[in-house]
Amino acid sequence: MKLHIVKNKKELAEKAYEVLLDVINSKDEVSLGLATGSSPEGIYEIFRREKPDVSHVTTVNLDEYVGLSADHDQSYAYFMNEHLFKHLKFKATHLPNGLSTDHAAECARYDEVLAANTPDLQLLGIGTNGHIAFNEPGASFELTTNVAELAPATVEANSRYFETPADVPTHAFSMGIKSIMQAKKILLIASGAGKAQAIKGMIEGPVTHELPASVLQTHVDVTVIVDAEAASLLRNDSMH
Ligand code: PGA
Repeated sequence: MKLHIVKNKKELAEKAYEVLLDVINSKDEVSLGLATGSSPEGIYEIFRREKPDVSHVTTVNLDEYVGLSADHDQSYAYFMNEHLFKHLKFKATHLPNGLSTDHAAECARYDEVLAANTPDLQLLGIGTNGHIAFNEPGASFELTTNVAELAPATVEANSRYFETPADVPTHAFSMGIKSIMQAKKILLIASGAGKAQAIKGMIEGPVTHELPASVLQTHVDVTVIVDAEAASLLRNDSMH
């Protein structure tokens, strides 16, 4: 893993944007794996400002809540539209369809989308419990797209976006770890002290299902960008 420690969220977004732009400009057809949540917001803000040419870029997102429509203001489709897709003209954009009722068919459809658009780069955040997408502690490393049950810690973390904890969806369509590992390059970003333990385990701990992000130690091309707070528990020798 290549580790970059930056001062704050602003520097994190700038550095991550550089990495993404290099991939976008690297060839004629690009597939970009994107993520939602608070971590990538600063990156998308730079996209809106800089307006790079993305007419040759197809995007695939990691996940979508089961039961939320694309126009529900907490759906990930809505998030992506507001932050990015309505501002830049991508070649095509893909997310799982939160409203599909045949879950198996929707997972199979999304696996086909991914097979046709293997990400040249997959952007990832990380949960405080070490999840990537909705691959929660205990998740198999062999899963492709699946319907994941959110861990209690994730429901709690996500409840800040909903009126009451009971409104937080409990399930999501999510790329599995096997799908994520197929990306040619992975860029994981994290900021804040709340992520420090997960970052430490991901980089220094054993590869374990209990901390799903630790599987990234076995991927050949991973870049990690964290701010000083998220790096605060790392041993000195991990930081070089
Ligand atoms: P966050 O979420 O970017 O909102 O912290 C990351 C995640 O849970 O994967």
